[in-house]
Parts: sequence; structure tokens; C-alpha cells
Amino acid sequence: MSKKIVFSGVQPSGEIHLGNYLGALKQFVDLQHKKDCIFSIVDLHAITIWQNPKLLAGRTREVLAIFIACGLLPEKNIIFKQSEVSEHSQLAWFLSCTARVGWLNRMTQFKDKAGKNKEIASVGLYTYPVLMAADILLYKATHVPVGDDQKQHLELVRDIAQKFNKDYNQEYFNLPEPLINKTATRIMSLRDGTKKMSKSDPSEQSRIMMTDSNDQISKKIMKAKTDSLKMPSSIEATEKRPEIENLINIFVACSNINKQKIIDDFASKEISVFKKELINCVTSTIEPIAFETEKLLKDQKFLDNILSENAKKAQLLARKTILEIKRIVGVIS
Ligand code: AMP
Ligand code: TRP
Repeated sequence: MSKKIVFSGVQPSGEIHLGNYLGALKQFVDLQHKKDCIFSIVDLHAITIWQNPKLLAGRTREVLAIFIACGLLPEKNIIFKQSEVSEHSQLAWFLSCTARVGWLNRMTQFKDKAGKNKEIASVGLYTYPVLMAADILLYKATHVPVGDDQKQHLELVRDIAQKFNKDYNQEYFNLPEPLINKTATRIMSLRDGTKKMSKSDPSEQSRIMMTDSNDQISKKIMKAKTDSLKMPSSIEATEKRPEIENLINIFVACSNINKQKIIDDFASKEISVFKKELINCVTSTIEPIAFETEKLLKDQKFLDNILSENAKKAQLLARKTILEIKRIVGVIS
């Protein structure tokens, strides 16, 4: 059995929100004690949609600060900036010669992000899942903790790995498995229970940031869209009420209390009573993280040092894989 390696990436395209934390970061923190973990701040993915060059490097530091504030230990894991390891782009090229156009055409995230006018989307946005495959396969990761929205990309990564093995007639890549947090597969927008909470939603009211103050969290939750009924009394009754279901899911994921118990505790009560408890639960999750993040961000040197030290560790692993790939493909003998 090969060694278990965890890899995941987070884009520095905006601030980290509660959906990122519950869907991805919380899993990273648990996994660091069980497996060898590599976490990348994927700035090359972020620029598939234009990013302000004056803000991008600072946002990378912000993601790192939040990682550490959430409990990721920089000395235990490899935490690095993707663009510092050029082998990601190199492997992406090899893999783009393996991936098929028809496979990329099925990617729903491209369709969502490109919108109606696909002709003017960047080529990078279209080939983005190939770069994601390179990120994962470069380190021969076995497990990839992600939110549910990345499931289709992970299936593509497995298809690419399988085709590469077949094309070159050897079991070089193993097939990575997604790890999806069952209690927070997809945290939805606070303004629309059918849309996921996202960094790119124009409404700031739609998401709770990991750096929000208690007051901001409280206002966002009090204003969160709901229907005007009382709280549901069964799991089935929540399924027809997406906004309420989302708020209950957030409660479950932040408190680690099971869904049935939360539904029983609030059954038939006013939504405002539930929202007040939810505010307590979310603020007690976020407050210590926001406090620690602010402290860490004051020491830019400390953060930059972590990134450069860890990039060296990632480079060592990455170089070895690229050399093997070059031999397999035959560009060197
Ligand atoms: P991104 O912000 O797109 O770089 O996402 C970073 C990680 O957070 C990925 O694993 C996503 O799947 C996860 N994620 C993003 N938005 C959500 C959400 N609304 N609910 C759960 N997980 C999410
Ligand atoms: N595509 C992921 C997202 O948008 C980010 C990402 C890039 C990633 N490379 C990865 C996630 C590799 C897991 C593994 O959220």
C-alpha cells in the first residue's frame, strides 16, 4: 500500500468565508494529525478571472494567516503558494495533452463562471481543471478534502490519471479520492438558499467572512433570508425550505451537534429564537479565528518566511515527479 498523502488548494481570490471553513479548512485541521498533508494557496487558479495585482499577494498572506488561525501547523504540513513551484504549470501542460476536450466541455463550474458569453472567458478558466489535476498528481496525493462543488473536478482528475497510465502503459498515478465533509457539503448563500456561498457573489450579505466581527455576523444572520413559518419539526420538513435547511446545516457544522437534536430543540419555535442561538454558535466559532488572523497579519515577515520555506519542500517533491514524467513521456531518455 502506498503512503497516504493529502493535497488541497484554496484560491486567494477573495476573503475566506464560512463555506470554505466548514467545507474545507475544518477537514484540513483534522487531517493534519492523521496523514502527510500538503496545502496550496492556488494563486494561478485565482488569475483565471482577473485579479487586482495590487491585492493578490496580500490575499495570499491572508489565506495563510487564516489557515494558521484555524489550527493548521506550518511546521507539520507543507503550506505553500502555487506559483512558487513552477512544476505545477509544467505538469499541467503534460496533462493537457492527456485530457480530452469533450471531458472539459462537461465541467459545470466553467459553464457557471463563464456565463452566457463563453467566447470571452479566458482559456485558463476553461483549462483550470487540468491545472487542478497537476496540483494533485504532482504530489501523488491519495486524498483530497474539498467541498461538494469540486466533486466533478475530482472525477476529471481521476480520468486524466487513468488515461495517462493507459497511454504510457504503466500504473504511474494512483487515483485520488475526494474527502467531502458530510455535515457541510455545500453551505449556501444567506440571500438565496439555492446558490452556494461564494467569494464572487456581489452581495456581501450573502456570506459570513472568517474575519467578520460579532456585530457583522449578528446582522448578517438576523437579515438572512427565510420564509415566515415556524421552525420545522422533522428532517423531511426542512428539505422543502432551502434557506432554513442551510441555517440548520451551519448550526450542525459549527456546533458538532447532530441535526435531529437541533430540529427537536427548536421545533415549532419562532425563526428569530433559532437565529439568536445560531449567532452565538457562529460567533463562538469565528471570534477566536478572526482574532488570531488579525494578530498574524501584523507580522508579514513571519508569513512570507513560512511560504518560502515550504515552497522549497514542495519543490523537492515536485522536481522528482516532473523528472519521472519527462522520462515516461520520452522528452528525456
Ligand atoms: P475556493 O474558494 O473556490 O478556493 O474553495 C476552497 C475550498 O472551499 C474548496 O474545497 C471548495 O470546495 C470549498 N468551498 C467553497 N465554497 C463552499 C461552500 N459554499 N460550501 C462548502 N464548501 C465550499
Ligand atoms: N478548484 C478548487 C476550488 O475552486 C481549488 C483547487 C485548486 C484545488 N487546485 C486544487 C482543490 C487541488 C483541491 C485540490 O475550490
